[in-house]
Amino acid sequence: MTKGKFITLEGLDGSGKTTQIKRLDAWLRERGHVTTLMRQPGGTATGDRIRELLLSSKSAGIAPMAEMALMFADRAQAITEVIRPSLEAGKVVVCDRFTDSTEAYQGGGRELGSEVVLELHRVICGGLNPDLTLMLLPDLEPSLERARRRNQKANNTAGPDENRFELEADAFHRRVWEKYHEIARREPGRVVLIEGALGIEDVHQRIVAAVSECIAKQ
Ligand code: TYD
Repeated sequence: MTKGKFITLEGLDGSGKTTQIKRLDAWLRERGHVTTLMRQPGGTATGDRIRELLLSSKSAGIAPMAEMALMFADRAQAITEVIRPSLEAGKVVVCDRFTDSTEAYQGGGRELGSEVVLELHRVICGGLNPDLTLMLLPDLEPSLERARRRNQKANNTAGPDENRFELEADAFHRRVWEKYHEIARREPGRVVLIEGALGIEDVHQRIVAAVSECIAKQ
């Protein structure tokens, strides 16, 4: 049995997850919780190398199944090295993306379907499921617009080459968005869906309400 809490954040690129994770982390720490922040892909030395491979525009020819397998390879490493030990130590682990991302992006976006993703999750993640998933799904069009603007900016500066998914066509992101909704409908007990055009503060308030409830549960 794990003692900590495992909280994941999900959403499209440009949904504001990064800002919300920072605010949630500060909120948890102010209340005396010890947190571990993780992101996927990445967050371990091996995972960061897998991340580079997955997100680089140089990996253009990567097969969807290979892409999915690498996402799970990264996850296996993160679970062993960081997530399980942190949970066993009673920490609150806040992870930017987890298996729902694979289901949405590879299962939905790349059209591999949910079944294969859930099967790999079962085998590779060994029953580790989030206690709570905060799914940020603002309306699709403004999200796509924000992601495009972010991309433009990244292309004009000398940042890391990490835009392979953001460069996908709108139809890909639409499939991701639809798959996320499907997951939220399927697992209402785990997933809190935060939708529509909400400001940063409103989203934060919804997040802390859901997290408070999750932490209060034994
Ligand atoms: P990242 O720069 O972390 O994006 P964001 O800030 O939007 O989370 O890039 C992660 C990208 O990898 C993102 O486009 C989603 C994609 N991804 C998958 O396709 N499958 C997965 O299982 C995970 C974890 C991420």
